[in-house]
Amino acid sequence: MDLPSALPPIERVLLTAEEIDARVGEVAAQISADFTGRELKLVSVLKGSVFFLTALARRITVPLKVDFLAISHFTNQPGAPGVVRIAKDLDDAIEGEHVLLVEDIVDTGFTTRYLMQNLAGRGPASLGICTLLDRSSRRIARIPINYSCFEIPDRFVVGWGLDYKQLYRNLDCIAVIRPE
Ligand code: IMP
Ligand code: MG
Repeated sequence: MDLPSALPPIERVLLTAEEIDARVGEVAAQISADFTGRELKLVSVLKGSVFFLTALARRITVPLKVDFLAISHFTNQPGAPGVVRIAKDLDDAIEGEHVLLVEDIVDTGFTTRYLMQNLAGRGPASLGICTLLDRSSRRIARIPINYSCFEIPDRFVVGWGLDYKQLYRNLDCIAVIRPE
């Protein structure tokens, strides 16, 4: 990728495009098996998780719907415990539906816990979590993760929707960068 010189360079590739594609296929197969005979709704948070959601959705074989919400954090430190607010809500109700919250990364878990509590209050038939990346070494909020593609070390990563200052989301691998 051609980068403006102000961007921190990629230090190393943690997960290649091929590794991610293969693992997403495995997790999609597991989800398809678990939800056989049922209709599924994938819900994700703009913007980071959209890249993973679309890749996952294309590999799932049960009928599914997608919906999106957006949140804003009341803190300027990414990953720091802060108050989360829904800035754009889902378009449709999820009452009585089988819902999977699709996440790019579960780090401290604060964001995911807030979202799960919020979604649970809307009366879905079932509610689970599917994440591309799990950085469990930094977890503070205990949350059950039903499907996780990769456990990653405590390093800042970009790619597959994950950004540094809104850039790098389109990288097709997961890479470690060293923000200044
Ligand atoms: P949590 O609330 O601490 O679990 O953090 C959740 C959010 O922080 C994620 O949805 C990401 O938007 C962001 N985040 C956490 N770690 C990283 C990273 O390594 N790269 C890019 N964004 C991250
Ligand atoms: Mg996110």
